[in-house]
Amino acid sequence: MAPTWPAMEYAERSKPQGSASVRSHIAERANISMADITPNNVGQLHMLNAKLFPIVYVKELYKVQGEDVKPLCKLGLFNDIPVGDICCTLEDGPDETTWKIYIMTLGVLPSYRRLGIATALLNHVLENAPVGGMFAGRRVHALYLHVQTSNVAARAFYEKNGFVVSDKIEGYYSQLEPQSAWVLEKHT
Ligand code: ACO
Repeated sequence: MAPTWPAMEYAERSKPQGSASVRSHIAERANISMADITPNNVGQLHMLNAKLFPIVYVKELYKVQGEDVKPLCKLGLFNDIPVGDICCTLEDGPDETTWKIYIMTLGVLPSYRRLGIATALLNHVLENAPVGGMFAGRRVHALYLHVQTSNVAARAFYEKNGFVVSDKIEGYYSQLEPQSAWVLEKHT
């Protein structure tokens, strides 16, 4: 005789109530955290950036990251899964007592956007290396980055976080279209 199976019971999925958006509903329940970039997970960083950016960042770029810059390079985790990253480099500021921090990459996989993950990654850098404050023995003069001029989302993101457009460089991305880049900076 064929076995009879107990009737399945499916709990009703809870849905966002009222005016709360689905994104904020997800964000409230997600655990967003960060991880150091180590020899064991640097491959994840390469894979994420290959998906996120039209430019291939050569592996050597990640090797330059010495101990000093460790707090400025992080994986962003959504419920422990790496879904984004920030990676900065240190450059001399106007003099040898200051730094300019260059945000080389900041990105989040499409499905995980608008959940505050990029904000968390950027805030982490700003908390460790506040503009006008000290980092690795020098005063932080500014943070800056380049954004392709077609990248409206990234510009909006940075402007929301207090960065201002300081320049437009024609031909900055020789292999992309458009080739032009905005320079966005955050000063004191
Ligand atoms: N359009 C308008 N405003 C936006 C957008 C967008 N698409 N995305 C973010 N913002 C603004 C909003 O004000 C948002 O707040 P809200 O969601 O409450 O409205 C705020 O920024 C914070 O957004 P987050 O959720 O923290 O940002 P997210 O995790 O979605 O990441 C990012 C933003 C990094 C720009 C993402 O869209 C991305 O990864 N894009 C592809 C990679 C990229 O372009 N990176 C930047 C290139 S420059 C560089 O790397 C140096």
